[in-house]
Amino acid sequence: MPFTSREATPADVPALARLHVETFIETHGGGENPPTVEMRERQWREILGKEDESDFCFVIEGPDGELVGFARGVAGDPDDPSEYTGVLNKIYLLRAYHRRGLGRRLLGHVARRFLSLGIRSMRLFGDAENPSNGFYERLGAERTYSDAGEFHGGYGWRDLQRLAALCPDE
Ligand SMILES: CC(C)(COP(=O)(O)OP(=O)(O)OC[C@H]1O[C@@H](n2cnc3c(N)ncnc32)[C@H](O)[C@@H]1OP(=O)(O)O)[C@@H](O)C(=O)NCCC(=O)NCCS
Repeated sequence: MPFTSREATPADVPALARLHVETFIETHGGGENPPTVEMRERQWREILGKEDESDFCFVIEGPDGELVGFARGVAGDPDDPSEYTGVLNKIYLLRAYHRRGLGRRLLGHVARRFLSLGIRSMRLFGDAENPSNGFYERLGAERTYSDAGEFHGGYGWRDLQRLAALCPDE
C-alpha cells in the first residue's frame, strides 16, 4: 500500500496544522469562526514539543509524503485509577482517503501505544450525530451514557488488546 504511518514529530507541525484545518472543515463545516492554521500550529507545536509519550499523535503519509490523516491519544491521570484510561482525543482523515483501512490503522497505533504504557481501556468524547460513529462501533466501541441515560457521543473500549487485534500493525 502506498501509505505509511508513523508517529508525528515537531517537524510535522506546519503540515499537520494544515491537515487539521482541512479535515475539520470537511467534517464540521467552516462555520463562522473556524480554527485557523496559525492557531493549530501553536497547539501542535506545544503538544509535540513536550515529547511526552503519553500525549502523542500518529500520522498517515500518502504516496508523495503528504499527510492525509492523523490521530491523537492522551493518557489519563496515572494517580487516579478511575481516570487511568486512554482518551482518543481526535482522529481525522481527508475525505478522499476514507474507507481504505487507514482509520483502522491509526486506531491500532493509538491502542498499542496505550497498551505499552500499561493502559488497557480507552474512551472518546464525540458527537452523537457524527456519521463516523459507525466506524467506532464497527471496531467494537460501546456507547457510554450520561447519568440521565442519554447518549452524547461518548464511546469506550474496555479491552485495548482486543481492539489492537482488530487493527493491523503496519
Ligand atoms: C472516522 C474515520 C477516521 C474512519 O476512517 P476510515 O479509514 O474511513 O475507516 P476504515 O476504512 O479504517 O474502516 C474500518 C471499518 O469501519 C467501517 N466504517 C468506516 N467508516 C464507517 C462509517 N462512517 N459508518 C459505518 N462503518 C464505517 C469500515 O467499513 C470498516 O469495516 P470493514 O473492515 O468491515 O469494511 C474517517 O471516516 C474520518 O476521518 N471521518 C471524519 C472525521 C471524524 O468525524 N472524526 C471523528 C471525530 S474526531
